[in-house]
Amino acid sequence: MAKYDLRGKVGIVTGANAGIGKRVALGMAQAGATVVMACRSAERGEAARQEVIAHSGNKDVHLLQVDLSSQASIRAAVAEFEGRFARLDVLINNAANFDQRLKAPVLTAEGIETVFATNHLGPFLLTNLLLPRLKASAPARVINVASKGLITYPRLSIEFDNLNGQRKFSMQHAYYHSKLAQVMFTYDLAERLAGSGVTANIIRVPVVRLDEGRYDHVPGWMQAMYRLKMRLAAIAPEQMAETYLYLAAAPEAAALTGQYIDENRQPVKSSGPSYDRAVWTRLWDVSARLTGLEETVTA
Ligand SMILES: NC(=O)c1ccc[n+]([C@@H]2O[C@H](COP(=O)([O-])OP(=O)(O)OC[C@H]3O[C@@H](n4cnc5c(N)ncnc54)[C@H](OP(=O)(O)O)[C@@H]3O)[C@@H](O)[C@H]2O)c1
Repeated sequence: MAKYDLRGKVGIVTGANAGIGKRVALGMAQAGATVVMACRSAERGEAARQEVIAHSGNKDVHLLQVDLSSQASIRAAVAEFEGRFARLDVLINNAANFDQRLKAPVLTAEGIETVFATNHLGPFLLTNLLLPRLKASAPARVINVASKGLITYPRLSIEFDNLNGQRKFSMQHAYYHSKLAQVMFTYDLAERLAGSGVTANIIRVPVVRLDEGRYDHVPGWMQAMYRLKMRLAAIAPEQMAETYLYLAAAPEAAALTGQYIDENRQPVKSSGPSYDRAVWTRLWDVSARLTGLEETVTA
């Protein structure tokens, strides 16, 4: 008997072909949900979908191909989703780019630095485009994902003059900056959605073991560093998935909104600058402009 009951519910998990996202898709399938695995690679996504079906016995598991660094791909995926599924109860923005090989900003086809595009603007656009479906299916839940490593950036705020890494760039900085943007987006979204029946929370993920082969492409010294980090500090993706599933499905989490939640399902504080409402608003407006949503975003 599954721990949660998601029968009759439809859930999207981005980055569902590996790591935490794959375990979350499995947990949702075991709970009886219609699961939509939103994956960048159709091939990796299909292999993971077959695995989830085999392990859960739930055949109501689907693949939605989407590259979150591309706004055109997100818009196409949402149109496809809306054609195939009548409701949306849970949206989990789990996918992220943390490609340590990036040494300089790489711009997407839409002219945006890839890490910010994938980790912040992608979930921002996907969520906003899906809001009408979420609201129509309320009660519904949006779950975003940040990183415990943000603790090492206590004074960081949104660098509006450096969104494309034009002033300075390191992969690590770009990654944490994009995750901070997700924290602020989530707090703001939760307030904008007050009274709509749609909640928004964000998870603070600590070091979690990556699947075998996930870091084969990085240089040898980096692989050694990863292996050490994984051995010393990492929790299993299955364990991390439990927090995602709690936020997605637990009845006692239904009213929770605007919270930053750790791997023990406890609300935690984020950095001081992350609570600056003026920055939330400016970030929302800039994100809406960069994704071509300024006319339509009402949240
Ligand atoms: N693992 C950790 O130690 C750790 C720590 C803090 C936070 N987190 C966060 O936890 C979440 C899950 O990470 P994980 O540990 O499960 O890592 P993972 O196994 O590497 O999974 C990342 C997922 O994101 C997908 N993805 C990356 N870029 C994408 C894009 N442009 N479009 C669509 N999908 C894309 C990947 O797909 P591909 O197979 O196509 O690459 C993969 O499915 C991420 O948000 C990450 O930032 C992880």
